[in-house]
Amino acid sequence: MPKGFPLPLVTITNKTLIPSSPLTAVFTGATAGIGSFSLLALAKAHGTSGHPLRVYLVGRNSKTATAIVDECKKVCPSGDFRFVRCGDLALLRDVDGACREVVELERGGRVDLLCMSHSSFSFTGSDDEKTETTEGLDSFLSLLYYSRVRFTTQLLPLLQKSTFPRSATVISVFGPNRRTEFFPDDLSLRDPGHYSFMNAGSVAATLKTFVFEELAKKSAGQVRFCPYFPGLVTETEGFKDEDLPLWFKVLWPVVRPVAKLLVGVGKLECGERVMFHLSGRFPARGLDRVDPELEVAVGSDGLVGGGAYRCDWNGELVSTTKEFETLREEGWAEKSLDHTMRVFEIIESGKLYTE
Ligand SMILES: NC(=O)c1ccc[n+]([C@@H]2O[C@H](COP(=O)([O-])OP(=O)(O)OC[C@H]3O[C@@H](n4cnc5c(N)ncnc54)[C@H](OP(=O)(O)O)[C@@H]3O)[C@@H](O)[C@H]2O)c1
Repeated sequence: MPKGFPLPLVTITNKTLIPSSPLTAVFTGATAGIGSFSLLALAKAHGTSGHPLRVYLVGRNSKTATAIVDECKKVCPSGDFRFVRCGDLALLRDVDGACREVVELERGGRVDLLCMSHSSFSFTGSDDEKTETTEGLDSFLSLLYYSRVRFTTQLLPLLQKSTFPRSATVISVFGPNRRTEFFPDDLSLRDPGHYSFMNAGSVAATLKTFVFEELAKKSAGQVRFCPYFPGLVTETEGFKDEDLPLWFKVLWPVVRPVAKLLVGVGKLECGERVMFHLSGRFPARGLDRVDPELEVAVGSDGLVGGGAYRCDWNGELVSTTKEFETLREEGWAEKSLDHTMRVFEIIESGKLYTE
């Protein structure tokens, strides 16, 4: 039997849980790919009955957003799906604008689910192709990390008010297992020798694991945090990006059918598995087990039910490495949060981040 939680168990869990209580969700990156598959899975699991469902779809492209909302409406006619137009989410000020709009529209309400998958498929191999935002962050690193933590902290007061099966859920779709190198003295990868697609992912995954652990402690009993590796999902727009390098554009059409067959995760399965993070498998820190079918996951800090989980595509967990635990011993859990808040403060004050 393959390791992990079987898809029928995942689907039935979602179908039971999602319509069982009122649910308000915010999606980013759902105008395409994994975000849209996840949003559709949520709408489908809610179906035609159940408690109210309200979704804010934060995106740049109103045309694709409308098409996705239309699809959601077909399976969930009672759902309230609202498009929140944003700019470039690599910019913290644009993240703040989108969050402000959600907060205003919610009028003192709450957010039960924040599902983030906005990112480009930046296969940049070198420092020359690096794109810096006008706020001073590397655009790719920001999309994977700073922007997503900013969404989380800006919406945290609303997330902490959630009572949806016991707590709110933050999902960040991007592999927590990405681990090549971490540069404590160059977190922005400004040294030309440090920058690469893999290293940017590694820094993002490391900082996010630590910061989600810290936020899980601050939101004990209220919010759980799930950085999630979705597996290889070949049916997304990302793989069609015009900016991908020529070698990839030539090789991918040949490799894709085989990869899809051998290790691919289909779009319906992908959506269901993302929504599985709402289940009792991943409780907020300090909450007891509720579902006898689902063993409580071990948090990335080693505590059963720790509240922050490095989630693999199939409901299992991605363990941390020896190097990662050395960073923890060196105080990087706290240092990561301090660093991130400092970046936010500098940019918020209107200055360019240059460190
Ligand atoms: N697909 C996979 O096999 C796979 C595997 C591992 C990890 N992941 C990770 O999963 C996440 C989602 O991947 P995907 O395959 O679903 O990608 P995708 O199909 O390319 O979708 C990306 C989404 O992000 C939005 N976006 C991109 N840049 C943005 C920006 N600057 N500002 C605002 N929105 C922006 C896009 O909006 P527009 O419609 O406006 O462009 C789109 O909605 C990524 O972080 C990726 O690294 C994917």
